[in-house]
This record gives sequence, structure tokens and C-alpha cells, in this order.
Amino acid sequence: MGKVALITGVTGQDGSYLSEFLLEKGYDVHGIIRRSSVDFRERIAHLEGKPHFHLHYADLGDSMSIVKVVDKVKPNEIYNLAAQSHVQVSFDSPEFTADVDATGVLRVLEAVRACHLEKTCRIYQASTSELYGKVEEVPQNENTPFHPYSPYAVAKLYGFWIVKEYREAYNMFCCSGILFNHESERRGETFVTRKITLAAARISQGLQDCLYLGNLDSLRDWGYAKDYVECMWLILQNDKPEDFVIATGVQHSVREFTELAFKHAGIELEFKGEGIKEVGICVKDNRPQPSDINHQTSLVGKTLVAVSEDFYRPTDVVNLWGDPTKAKAKLGWNPAKTSFEELVKLMVEHDIAKVAAEGAAAKVRTNLAEYLEKGIVK
Ligand code: NAP
Ligand code: GDD
Repeated sequence: MGKVALITGVTGQDGSYLSEFLLEKGYDVHGIIRRSSVDFRERIAHLEGKPHFHLHYADLGDSMSIVKVVDKVKPNEIYNLAAQSHVQVSFDSPEFTADVDATGVLRVLEAVRACHLEKTCRIYQASTSELYGKVEEVPQNENTPFHPYSPYAVAKLYGFWIVKEYREAYNMFCCSGILFNHESERRGETFVTRKITLAAARISQGLQDCLYLGNLDSLRDWGYAKDYVECMWLILQNDKPEDFVIATGVQHSVREFTELAFKHAGIELEFKGEGIKEVGICVKDNRPQPSDINHQTSLVGKTLVAVSEDFYRPTDVVNLWGDPTKAKAKLGWNPAKTSFEELVKLMVEHDIAKVAAEGAAAKVRTNLAEYLEKGIVK
């Protein structure tokens, strides 16, 4: 019999990669999904219907639903990835964020105890570099003090400590991965990296005029999500339950990410001005000029990136930089598998293809509408 894993947050970026990873390892993978008015789950649609992939309705805000799924599935491993994961949104919905990201963790731990699985079920908690918040040390490792700096981070801090508490109080194998930012072509479209790569793709194809961002000076340690899910698994295969920092050990600014993403889309930017007045101007237009896409005019001299106060946060975390020494030494994990440059390139290439495909589909629809109108097709 293969192992059984239960993933909360299976429809998210990490949940989808982790599902693929565990299925390849021969696991029976169960995921929890929430009722939504939209039934199409884009990131896992290709897995639905596979024999070892199962979905169950439950919600991290609903204890009984979690207990029922845990009791039915009897997992060997639980990966608790479900969360309201957007830091800026946590300022708008702090109570919901606390319920899911803090109390939700407790509900998962209690479900395991209620089902008497505490001796056999290992639990991974998706913790975060946001715990370091207003950082007290650079780079950050497992011993760096926490200073959470958003409602999201404060909720996640509870999650971190309750996992530690259950490990010590009940001898449970539960651990936190303190993951630094990890991105991919499946990243949510309002996180800064994906917002940038999609905008670079759209601007390069003449479908968007300008990208508006918030704090361009913010520094992050960005890795590739596909590499990071392996580490989640390694943490649960370790001899003893421990917490690990997962990061690349390399830091870049939002501005640097933007410059590189636009460069991959054939646009060279130069940034001028400061703070709210800073702009990114096109200084070289290297885009190929196929006749069927709408970018005949040069972008040189145009302002393609501008700053908007709408994307400033009441408190912002500006200096995240992880030290993955412990994960490298104890788990044998390689933090340098995908470089920053490769990550940006793969995201931009993906989004250029996506935008082009959507554009082509829209064109077909427009042509079809025209034909219908003119009575050419009935
Ligand atoms: P994501 O793409 O935003 O996915 C979040 C997942 O949580 C989705 O499947 C979502 O379901 C689910 N969810 C939200 N509220 C729920 C609820 N009440 N009950 C059940 N499911 C719920 O996030 P991600 O980037 O994959 O991140 C995964 C986890 O790692 C999160 O806990 C995040 O906070 C943490 N983390 C992420 C990073 C990063 O850089 N990506 C870094 C550190 C930690 P729907 O599809 O139904 O909304
Ligand atoms: N989202 C967003 N949109 N962020 C912007 C923008 C913008 O237009 N402009 C600048 N930023 C800055 C933010 O202020 C922040 O300092 C940085 O870019 C990264 O923002 P996000 O991509 O939204 O990610 P995050 O770091 O706040 O949170 C992500 O990483 C955490 C790990 O450190 C999320 O995935 C969290 O769930 C995760 O815990």
C-alpha cells in the first residue's frame, strides 16, 4: 500500500505542484476544495479524474468538515497549505485571515487528535518568511527573532507556535516550513511577480499601456515553487520533527524583477525619479515585429511602469533574505536548482504564450461574430 497524503489548499499554486510531486512518488493524494460558483479549477484540472487523486469538500473555517475528511482519508501525511495568502488583502479582511490562517491550523491539529491519528500522521504547516516582518537580522535563519508586520503575518505566527506547542505537548510529528517567496507560472495574478510578468507580456503585445506598482525598493528572496514543494516533502521524511527555513539565499528588488521581466519581453527599461514619482521608461524596443500582432509602433520614450499609492501597504516588509544552510545540510535540498534569472525567464515566456493564445482566441471570436453578423456563417 502506498502512502496517503491530504493536502489543504490543493487548488493553489503550491497545492497543485505538491499534488503532482506526490502522485509521481506513488502517493494516494486527497485534496480539500471549497464550494465555489466557478467549478473549473485551473491549476489541478489536469489531475482531476486520475485514479490516485481525490477531492473532498471541506473548509478550514469549519472544524467538523475537517474532522470528517481526516477520519475518512486517514492520511499518513497532511500538508496544511490552505490560507488567505495575500498580505495586502489581510489588511482588508483581517478577521477572515485570522480565522483561516491561525485558527485553521489549530482545527487541523485537533482533527488529527480527534481521529486518534496523532501517532501515525505527520503534519506540514505552510509557515512564512513574513514572520520576520520588520526584520531584526539579515539574512534570516531559524534563530532570527520574529517581528510580524501585517494581519497575515500575525495570524501565521499563531500557526507556527501552535504547531510547535502540539509537537511538544502531544509528541506529534508536526513541523513548519518557513518558506520565503516562491513563484511560478501558476502564481496568483495579483502577487507582484506574476503581475509584472503578465503586464510585460501584455505590453509587449500592445494589449496594455502601463503597469502600476507599489514599493519598487522592496527586497525579496524569490525561488521557484516547483523546487520548494520537494522541500515540504523532505521535511516530513526527516528523522525528527523540526522547522526549516526554505530560501534561495539570493535577494533582489521589485525594480530588478521588473527590469529583467521586461527585458525578456524585448523591452529595455530605465527607471527615473523617486518614490511615488518614479517611472520606468522604455529606452530600447527589441521586440520582434510579426505582422499579426498589434505592436507596430515603437515603445521607446514611453512610460511603461509607474508607481501608484494604491499598492502601498499600511506596513510593508521590505528586506526578506533567507539563509537555507540548515535545509541544505539536514535535508540535502538544493536551493540553487532554479536561478532568479531562470525563474523570471520561464514566467515571462509562459505569459507571452498565454497572452498570445488568449489574443488569438479573442480574434477568432471577433471574426466569428463579424461573419455571423454579415450572414457568412449561420
Ligand atoms: P494560494 O495560491 O493563494 O493558495 C491558497 C489555497 O488555500 C487555495 O487552494 C485556496 O482555495 C485555499 N484556501 C483559502 N482559504 C481556505 C479555506 N477557508 N478553506 C480551505 N481552503 C482555503 O497560496 P500558495 O502560494 O499556494 O501558498 C500556499 C501556502 O503557503 C499558503 O498557506 C501561504 O500562506 C503559504 N506561503 C506561501 C508562500 C509563497 O511565496 N507562495 C511563501 C510562504 C508561505 P481556493 O482556490 O478555493 O481559494
Ligand atoms: N502584490 C503586490 N502588488 N506587491 C507589490 C506591488 C504590487 O503592485 N508593488 C510592490 N509590491 C511589493 C509589496 O509591497 C511587497 O513588499 C513585495 O512587492 C512582494 O509582494 P507580494 O508579491 O504580494 O508578496 P508578499 O511578499 O507580500 O507575500 C507573499 O510571500 C510571502 C512569503 O514571504 C505571499 O505568497 C505570502 O503568502 C507569503 O507568506
